[in-house]
Amino acid sequence: MHLKQLQITDFRNLKTVDIEPTAGINLITGKNASGKTSLLETIYYLSHVRSFRSLQVADLINRDASYLQLVAKIQQDQGEIPVGIRRSKTRMQIRSNQQAVKRVADLAATFPVLAIHPDSYRLITGSPAERRQYLDWGVFHVEHGFFDTWQRYRLALAQRNAALRQKQAQKFCVLWDREINNAAEQIDALRDRYFDKLKPCFDRLVTSFFADQDLVITYRRGWSQDKTLAELLVQHLEKDRKQGFTYYGPHRAEVHIRVQGQSAQTGISRGQQKLLVALLRLAQAQQFSAMKQQSCILLYDDLAAELDKKNRALILAELARMQVQLFVTAIEADQINISSWAQKKMFHVEQGRLKDLI
Ligand SMILES: Nc1ncnc2c1ncn2[C@@H]1O[C@H](COP(=O)(O)OP(=O)(O)O)[C@@H](O)[C@H]1O
Ligand SMILES: [Mg+2]
Repeated sequence: MHLKQLQITDFRNLKTVDIEPTAGINLITGKNASGKTSLLETIYYLSHVRSFRSLQVADLINRDASYLQLVAKIQQDQGEIPVGIRRSKTRMQIRSNQQAVKRVADLAATFPVLAIHPDSYRLITGSPAERRQYLDWGVFHVEHGFFDTWQRYRLALAQRNAALRQKQAQKFCVLWDREINNAAEQIDALRDRYFDKLKPCFDRLVTSFFADQDLVITYRRGWSQDKTLAELLVQHLEKDRKQGFTYYGPHRAEVHIRVQGQSAQTGISRGQQKLLVALLRLAQAQQFSAMKQQSCILLYDDLAAELDKKNRALILAELARMQVQLFVTAIEADQINISSWAQKKMFHVEQGRLKDLI
């Protein structure tokens, strides 16, 4: 799978862009504020229908325009799929293969995109929700049925929480317990299975990049290993009623990373955190292509600024061995050595306008 053509209209400072990326590496160069990150953001947006740096859609629409539009051709084994998003402040239209798309998840499924950018270290330092999102990207793409089970869980949990908040009688609060327990068991099983497949990829990368350090990654499901969630929901009901929400469950799952026995959140430097995030994403991309027998898309914003020279060379060597379509940004072309790629293209951005270099 790869992005074959991308037409951008009024996304941030990118007024009109029309490019045909290669399935290998695409290096995008340009001065600060030329529009490099915005270009990666459009590709991310086509998959996630949100940005990795702004929550407000108004930030993404060009200041002089009333809507943004992204039109892409995605090459898949079965053929080419046209995909389009048009977004104004109040309206969203998504089309895939000539049909209206109602669920954002359906778009993500045809177009898997991973990003590494200067704020990505928050995957390590941020709340557990960040790491659940990381895990669930993979579970969603690799394990069937996850999305529907998760929706079922969320609905039941919301109902239970509403009953708890309203301090309803115990017999009403427990009405959802069975549904919650069933969905939770499935979510945990899917996450656990995915994590088991991801871990060897991650551990292999860690061995070469954190060679002399003891780095351990673990998945915790969000409730005790030796009790069922159903039991815990009963035991904890009075406390849950006092607090007005359900404490235990897969909504509290965590991915822990410990380095030399200390949490990676506080125990390692910012530079090491950035490297670690890159390895987490690379592991995910490697697992994806091994499992699905097809490549995904990896965006790497400001690669040169994110890593020191030695790790930059090592990461580039690792990327060159992977089956992914890459989009990398840098200020200067000589910061990124792309000679190992058979398929490569370079683009230069100047004030929101893109030029093909090779
Ligand atoms: N909604 C918008 N409309 C127009 N320009 C924007 C909008 N949002 C951001 N910009 C501008 O787009 C430019 C490109 O930003 P960015 O993609 O971050 O550049 P780079 O990554 O190359 O440093 C910046 O000058 C920024 O101020
Ligand atoms: Mg940038």
